[in-house]
Amino acid sequence: MQNPIIVALDVPDADRALTLARQLAPFVGGFKIGSELFTIAGPEVVKHIRQTGAMVFLDLKFYDIPNTVAKAVASATRLDVQMLTIHTSGGSNMMCAAEQSAQETARELGRPAPLVLGVTVLTSMDSQELSETGLQTEPARQVERLATLGVRAGLRGLVCSPLEIVALRKILPPEVQLVTPGIRSANAKSDDQKRTLSAREAIEAGANWLVIGRPIYAAPHPVRAAQEILTSRIESERSKRGCPAAFEDMIS
Ligand code: C5P
Repeated sequence: MQNPIIVALDVPDADRALTLARQLAPFVGGFKIGSELFTIAGPEVVKHIRQTGAMVFLDLKFYDIPNTVAKAVASATRLDVQMLTIHTSGGSNMMCAAEQSAQETARELGRPAPLVLGVTVLTSMDSQELSETGLQTEPARQVERLATLGVRAGLRGLVCSPLEIVALRKILPPEVQLVTPGIRSANAKSDDQKRTLSAREAIEAGANWLVIGRPIYAAPHPVRAAQEILTSRIESERSKRGCPAAFEDMIS
């Protein structure tokens, strides 16, 4: 199995992003480029980060009519990203067009298609905010509804919060890849994340990929922080449960 850590490069310029990426590339699975960095640094930063050999997750959360999203996905595929996000609330036709575009563009280029990940309900939204948009439902129910819709439309992966993993694993085919942010070790500060799990807990619950930002990029020693997350809690887990499998074994 590969290294599941994807470092969120939530930094305001390409220099900082590239310094971090060059330092961390041998120790993590990939890097997430979001709206902040992409808006200022553009496709060039994607190309430079790909040159480190690490995977790139382009998190621009496309949400538009099917034709426009399909073209944006084709552009991202040409940029050689390995993961990208779209909003599942854009509907079945949009999701289908996005997945098809990723597959067809990758085939033309002779490389594997990027994983088109569906974003369901933003974790910042509660039932009050959902109801303001006309949806009289609990966020957890809406997450399950949109996740199911996404997979039926052909998506092979979803972004979800750590506390949604168990419920989604019960209703989705096992091959669906789950990517989760909100990862914090037991003794770390949670920043503005309200619902967190440790790396080990998230993997055990069924996550495939862990998106981790501040605990790595804002640490005094980012490489050491990444390595500590990979080996996190092995000793305490072992002594608590007599657990034989180290987290490192699960990812190597
Ligand atoms: O710094 P931290 O580890 O909290 O960063 C988490 C990353 O995952 C950020 O890039 C954030 O935008 C993203 N994310 C999140 N919660 C979501 C979706 C994305 O924290 N529901």
